Amino acid sequence: MTSTPQRVEHQMTDKGYVPLYATGVVEQPWSGYTRTDHDVWATLFERQQQLLVGRAGSEFLRSQRAMGMSAHEIPKFDDLNRMLRAATGWEIVGVEGLLPELVFFEHLANRRFPVTWWIRKPEQLDYLAEPDLFHDLFGHVPLLMNPVFADYMAAYGRGGVKAHALGPEALANLTRLYWYTVEFGLIREADGLRIYGAGIVSSKGESIHCLESASPNRIGFDLERIMRTRYRIDSYQKTYFVIDSYEQLMDATRPDFTPIYARLAERASIPAGEVLETDTVFHRGTGEGWPTDADV
Ligand code: PHE
Ligand code: CO
Repeated sequence: MTSTPQRVEHQMTDKGYVPLYATGVVEQPWSGYTRTDHDVWATLFERQQQLLVGRAGSEFLRSQRAMGMSAHEIPKFDDLNRMLRAATGWEIVGVEGLLPELVFFEHLANRRFPVTWWIRKPEQLDYLAEPDLFHDLFGHVPLLMNPVFADYMAAYGRGGVKAHALGPEALANLTRLYWYTVEFGLIREADGLRIYGAGIVSSKGESIHCLESASPNRIGFDLERIMRTRYRIDSYQKTYFVIDSYEQLMDATRPDFTPIYARLAERASIPAGEVLETDTVFHRGTGEGWPTDADV
């Protein structure tokens, strides 16, 4: 029997018509996965696995091996949770899809990472507009085995609860930080730049583009700069930000953001592709192929 995600309704919002999902935690309906579901997982897993050698950060690859995910079948959340709990006290919980912001932050603050239980269809291997099991599990979960990154994610959750109470502008600043680190971050290692962002490691095209294309900017991590930078949701990023270590991420985000949000409220946002004089530029993008409509 195939289970289907419990879509509550489609609702018109300022971002257009979006699916709304039930927001509760669900048991992973593992025995409901079809042969096709497992094949989609296997195809994506093998493809990314090969592509990420020499491209993903060493911690991502090491953590992934330690967790024991394999192409063979869709992993069982319970099996992964045994490893995760022992390593960093994190666990994954099954959900139907994107959660309301506050619900999401509260999960993270309590070291629970919500993972969409359903996987994309065979015709969606290369692109999907919303997170699915492959993005969430393959992309986000391995680094939760790393103690420093695990602490960063929990601190982000607490910061999210606070920003949510402060209002939409603070939340927009914080969301950009998540976007440019957790989803699209690069890390500088001894042999060169490597990927750690979940949005990249789960995408074939962007895994190559972010490192090898001349088009995007690659710029050193700068907290307030990132919090002012708009981004793309419908194309590859115009700019990637590079950290030196997960400790750098942790240290930069330790201070109370409340005065930072107040300061940023006075300043204009920065277009996604812009390079500033104050930037540490690893690569200045050629801008080739960039969409010209407005960034988010
Ligand atoms: N220090 C941030 C605050 O006071 C919280 C935070 C930590 C945000 C880590 C992001 C990442 O809001
Ligand atoms: Co994600």
